[in-house]
Amino acid sequence: MRILHAASEIFPLVKTGGLADVVGSLPPALARRGLDVRVLLPGFPAMLDGIADLRPLMRIGPVFGAASVTLCAGRLPDSRLPAYVIDAPFLFRRKGNPYIGPDGHDWSDNHRRFGLLGWMAAHLASGELDPEWIPDVVHAHDWHTGLTPVYITQNPGLRVPTVFTIHNLAFRGIFPMDCNYDLGLSMRRLNPHGVEFHGNISFMKAGLVYASKITTVSPNYAREICTPEFGYGLDGVMRDRAGDLSGILNGVDYAVWNPGDANILEPYSADDLAGKKACKRALQMEFGLSTEARGPLFAVVSRLTSQKGMDLLLAALPELLQQEAQLVVLGTGDGDLEAGFRYAASVNPGNVAVCIGYDESMSHRFMAGADILLVPSRFEPCGLTQLYALHYGTLPLVRHVGGLADTVVDINDETLAQDRATGFVFGEASRHALGARIREACEFYRNNGSAWEKIQRKAMRQDFSWDDSAANYEQLYRGL
Ligand code: ADP
Ligand code: GLC
Repeated sequence: MRILHAASEIFPLVKTGGLADVVGSLPPALARRGLDVRVLLPGFPAMLDGIADLRPLMRIGPVFGAASVTLCAGRLPDSRLPAYVIDAPFLFRRKGNPYIGPDGHDWSDNHRRFGLLGWMAAHLASGELDPEWIPDVVHAHDWHTGLTPVYITQNPGLRVPTVFTIHNLAFRGIFPMDCNYDLGLSMRRLNPHGVEFHGNISFMKAGLVYASKITTVSPNYAREICTPEFGYGLDGVMRDRAGDLSGILNGVDYAVWNPGDANILEPYSADDLAGKKACKRALQMEFGLSTEARGPLFAVVSRLTSQKGMDLLLAALPELLQQEAQLVVLGTGDGDLEAGFRYAASVNPGNVAVCIGYDESMSHRFMAGADILLVPSRFEPCGLTQLYALHYGTLPLVRHVGGLADTVVDINDETLAQDRATGFVFGEASRHALGARIREACEFYRNNGSAWEKIQRKAMRQDFSWDDSAANYEQLYRGL
């Protein structure tokens, strides 16, 4: 069975968040199950540089405002999986963030850039671009590829089924209606039953309406997005398509994320946690934090946004400090939140430290060195960092929402007695609820040394590898 994955990011070449981790690890997991999997990616500079054995496959005339578009073929660096790359210099050869220009605003031609991505996926599906390899199913990820199912269904002769995966419904890919002069969607699609969203075009809605099947990245988020609270105005569409919607939990690539990985100072395991203490000390020293603190070391590795509840954390910080705990933050995002964390670090030297930036290797050191990873999200489709933290014996403290609720078992009398507990969970998105759980986590840390280690081992032995989830995707493809 031939499966084409279309996406805008892939680890380790281009990554702004969890989407890249998933696109980098799900296709190889499917290939290990015997499926014939390829990926289609936009030709950002890092893609062109990082894909091995890249060669031109087909020159395509001027389309989507680009004079030259060439479909290239090569192989992914680690898995050696076949990859198609769209080399359209006018649209994609730009340095920096894939979506945002140097002025901090979305590139004004994003509809053409990602319209082309969906259009190419459809033409690969038709067999016109590579007659040697025609997919049986096209699997498109997030709004960037949302037009894929539309272009496919616009061709009455094309019967290739599509799967569309929502990684984050908050990003809906909205563009003014007149962008359709560039996109060429049929007039019959430009209404509220089609791609129109309040007078605009939404790439996300396009994927939701026209895909054969819809998935999202956790069972709980699949339920949540059918409600107005989490639906971002698309909950009606989600309810209409509930019969075709399912939640499949993301997996972790444990070859990349494990406490013996190349970024870790002193490797450790569930059987021998000694190295973790050294990793904590090293992290404290790297950031000028006291190594004498009585409380636990909390860490954040995250986009600094309100989705991630980072404003709640800033507001709850006094509670954390009262417990003689420490906080270390790695992230980038909203200017106000960045400034807030910088200020907190400047007035609490030795106890709060912040790195505003994006650093893959440092994120591993955080996972290994911290006692507790904070993920107080307002909404969270799946969340990967809590899964990584578990595997490093760093207990997650998360809000009971989305995939966080599906993956972390709260520490309480009942779950402790059943030996199921893996982290700290709180309910309400308020600084009081977060602050209270932080205080309880600190008390537990101080008073339950041996129980803490037992929970760490339990956490480290959780299995969130791709095995089950890849099997679920395979089943979905076979059904199509
Ligand atoms: P999201 O995709 O919503 O940002 P996820 O938890 O699914 O959230 O994935 C986030 C990914 O991005 C993880 O791999 C995490 O380690 C990584 N990440 C986030 N911020 C940073 C940062 N500042 N430096 C390095 N990695 C980061
Ligand atoms: C999105 C979501 C995150 C999820 C990731 C990968 O960025 O915000 O929760 O883990 O996609 O699916």
